[in-house]
Amino acid sequence: MKTTKKLIEVALPLEAINVASVREGFIYRGNPSALHKWWAQRPLTAARAIIFAQMVDDPSTYVDVLRSDPKLRRKAETTRKTRWKVWEEARTLAVRFQHSGISVPEPGPEPTLDDILAEQERKRLFQIIEDLVLWENTTNEEVLQKARDEIWQSWRRACAKNADHPQAKELFDRKRLPAFHDPFAGGGTLPLEAQRLGLKSYASDLNPVAVMINKAMIEIPPMFSGLAPVNPKSRQEKTLIVHEWKGVEGFAEDVRYYGQWMRDEAEKRIGHLYPKIEVTSTMVRERPDLKNYLGQKLTVIAWLWAHTVKSPNPAFAQVDVPLASTFMLSTKAGKEAYVEPLIESGGYRFKVKVGKPLNAEAAKKGTKQARANFLCLMSSAPISGDYIKAEAKAGRMGARLMAIVALGERGRIYLTPSEEMENVARQADPKWRPDLAISGSTQYIGVKPYGIEQFSQLFTERQLVALTTFSDLVKEVRELVIHDALVASDARDMKHLTADRPTATAYADAIAMFLAFSVDKTAEYGCKCVPWYSKEDRPKGLFARQAIPMVWDFAEVNPLTEIGGTFSASVNIVAGALQGCAPSGESPVVRQLDAVAQDKIGGVRPIVSTDPPYYDNVPYADLSDFFYIWLRRSLRSLFPDLFSTLAVPKAGELVAFAYRHEGEVGAEAFFLDGMTLAMHRLAEQAHPAFPVSIYYAFRQSETMNEGTTSTGWETFLDAVIKAGFSLTGTWPMRTERAARSRGIGSNALATSIVIVCRKRSANAPIATRREFVSALKTELPVALTHLQRGNIAPVDLAQAAIGPGMAVYTRYEKVLDAEGHALSVREALALINQTLDEALAEQEGDFDADSRWALTWFEQLGFAEGEYGVAEQLSKSKNTSVEGMVEAGILESKRGNVRLIRPEELPANWDPAKDPRLTAWEIVHHLIRLLASGGESAAAEIVAKLGAKAEVARELCYRLYTLCERKKRATEALAYNGLVQSWPEITRLAREGVEDIKPRAKEIRLFEETEE
Ligand SMILES: C[S@@+](CC[C@H](N)C(=O)[O-])C[C@H]1O[C@@H](n2cnc3c(N)ncnc32)[C@H](O)[C@@H]1O
Repeated sequence: MKTTKKLIEVALPLEAINVASVREGFIYRGNPSALHKWWAQRPLTAARAIIFAQMVDDPSTYVDVLRSDPKLRRKAETTRKTRWKVWEEARTLAVRFQHSGISVPEPGPEPTLDDILAEQERKRLFQIIEDLVLWENTTNEEVLQKARDEIWQSWRRACAKNADHPQAKELFDRKRLPAFHDPFAGGGTLPLEAQRLGLKSYASDLNPVAVMINKAMIEIPPMFSGLAPVNPKSRQEKTLIVHEWKGVEGFAEDVRYYGQWMRDEAEKRIGHLYPKIEVTSTMVRERPDLKNYLGQKLTVIAWLWAHTVKSPNPAFAQVDVPLASTFMLSTKAGKEAYVEPLIESGGYRFKVKVGKPLNAEAAKKGTKQARANFLCLMSSAPISGDYIKAEAKAGRMGARLMAIVALGERGRIYLTPSEEMENVARQADPKWRPDLAISGSTQYIGVKPYGIEQFSQLFTERQLVALTTFSDLVKEVRELVIHDALVASDARDMKHLTADRPTATAYADAIAMFLAFSVDKTAEYGCKCVPWYSKEDRPKGLFARQAIPMVWDFAEVNPLTEIGGTFSASVNIVAGALQGCAPSGESPVVRQLDAVAQDKIGGVRPIVSTDPPYYDNVPYADLSDFFYIWLRRSLRSLFPDLFSTLAVPKAGELVAFAYRHEGEVGAEAFFLDGMTLAMHRLAEQAHPAFPVSIYYAFRQSETMNEGTTSTGWETFLDAVIKAGFSLTGTWPMRTERAARSRGIGSNALATSIVIVCRKRSANAPIATRREFVSALKTELPVALTHLQRGNIAPVDLAQAAIGPGMAVYTRYEKVLDAEGHALSVREALALINQTLDEALAEQEGDFDADSRWALTWFEQLGFAEGEYGVAEQLSKSKNTSVEGMVEAGILESKRGNVRLIRPEELPANWDPAKDPRLTAWEIVHHLIRLLASGGESAAAEIVAKLGAKAEVARELCYRLYTLCERKKRATEALAYNGLVQSWPEITRLAREGVEDIKPRAKEIRLFEETEE
């Protein structure tokens, strides 16, 4: 088979992808990820870029085509001339000093026309990716079509090359793109993006909840695209105004309509459990701020409860004292409200007050001391965590109403609780409860030590009544939709509801599914693990983390109102999420399958991009039971196979949990064996013409403490290699929410890595360590240039270089050291790092003599002073002089000492055009000064004057970053990293002229003294 290198195996515009991913994390409305909660969902934009780059050829593989285009050729020749001049100067210098004993590094390989042609073309592909990852372009057909066309071109080239392959018909059908498969599909991100790029998408996961999400995300939208809604209201309006229902607009409209119907029905059935609160004259007497509301009945949006236990003080043994983590209700400036506990007649009551509390510290703490330790409100006796656990297990944990949140004319109004309100809540009598045991360890299931063992205990009685009512209504609404859909199809309003297209029942099933998702969302905010977020006056959903935590004082949201987390709000989010799905796509396939055991899905050889679970990061199956119980109740009759078990199947889940596998050792073995097997299956099944991409997520502790040398990472690489893969790329990504605020503009390591791999050839040779090192030395510098030209952030360079390094290592069956032992992954990684360092040092050959001197000096001393004599001696070996560098403006020489000038000390009126001794060093530091003071546009003005000479500054930044990282000079490293990250914007502004662009000062501090 003739395979070609794909773009992902050579270069990626990583920064653009990372920036888009971070941005996407803040977009909720219209984001398909908001359809249903899944843990550690990948950003859509990153997934889109990865799949695209996995499918398109790297331009080096079709350079002959590029060469034959006169326009491209002319452009490349001009670039080559400029580059060649710089290269020739560096080479001449190297030759001149070769025999003089002075070390002058060789420049890199001679720039060739083919390299430049490929580089030009890569830039064009990068532009496609940069457009593709913009959130605004998620459904922009023009941008998407451009990407699809590019994929098709590469595909046709592959088919043409392999036309004589014995399995050409099966593997290289030029009229049909290969399918896509993600065997760990989870929240559906990757399959959705493959579908958007025009591939037939197969999604599988072991978890039935994940399977449902994938169905909703990729199966439903294309099935009902272009249909008018069936609900009577829209049909009636349609006759008045002609409306064209594009994509899934009609379907989404029905989700909203029937969602509203469910809400209204629920109100009829359970509205009495959610009474309004009347503002009485007694209330106004105590709270004059309520004057305007006198006599009004206000809608309650939430009841705030505190868990209670019996006081440990024998004198108050009958009093249920509150476990309140705070008494503050709202900390919004000017709108502060708090609870004041009043002790009276052997008990206590709560009074809600507005304004700032006198003792702010005490109000903030509530009755909480530290962690799970509280104080008795009546006696200040300590209440230990163990006491609370014992009380809870003995069934003596209760709840007391602390405050009521009502809807005022301008925002929330906090009110004192009443006995009446408490009594209404206690009247609720659910006719069903999810008596399913909560599985999982207390590391994630924080409620367990407090006697909460069943899912039913996670809800108040009223919450159970509400959720069961909504769940019943899902079944009822389905009948209603069938009826309306039949009426609509009889009237031929729904032009596609015919025998060969989806039936009215299928349509109703789909609507029911989306409404069941809305019930799940309501449950996320409708359980006892929902705290009140006093900073923003709103409830906080259950799964802020991948855990079920104990919440001491919780908000019981009124699900019939409109605030976030209620049923109506959930329906709107779910319907809105449909907007971002792909409205067309070749009949996708979603299955519940075990990735370890599965056979070829659909009998095809798919393109694979996947994101397997990582060790014990997320207990998917344990957590997803929370949703399964409600989905099963609402949809079991529609999906009997998926909901055949009482709970989400756990045994086959590829995670390492000690409690499932008789201890840590068993868990690790289960995970590694399973993962190797699953990877093996991938290697066997994936389409042989394409690389496979696999996401690896670092745990936070790993990125903080161990970085690129973490054991988890090495073990994972080992599993991938053992499964028969060879690696061809590693791309560090900043895609996860947790790292978002930290990632940008800092030196934080990426939170995940996309590993690109191909099945290793059966006759891979064995190499010696020497052969391995020599291949590394030849190939890594070239790969390094590609990465730098792709503007990789210096902080990401070491992780990205693992790919090309590992490509060499895994090309061999094994690499043997002098004693005949096989080199481990860890040893190979160390050698790759070392070679990368050398390659970066070699790039010094591209710099002018002053900059080379400054680099060596900087490595030793940073911006600190050093002896003149030493500086002078060093300058000789670098073919320059201290005086010359003082003249050049990079060095200060005083009283027998010299030091490099800091960026902030450089003259503000510097003009490169008038600088008689222009150095790369100066350029970098002036640009850092300008970036800090005037932002990218100020830096761009200088870059515009420098023209092609500016490029060398970027190369120097990589070198400087590596030096600073090694010397632990974090602030300086940040500035160099920042300059490279801003490079695309600076050069864009320089190209387009900066006059009309307002300066945007960057928040980068200039260098400070840092400890080494
Ligand atoms: C990291 S998540 C995938 C997340 C997904 N890429 C997204 O963006 O939402 C890993 C998935 O692997 C699934 N999984 C775990 N063990 C599995 C197995 N043996 N077979 C198939 N899927 C499994 C989990 O249910 C989980 O959905």
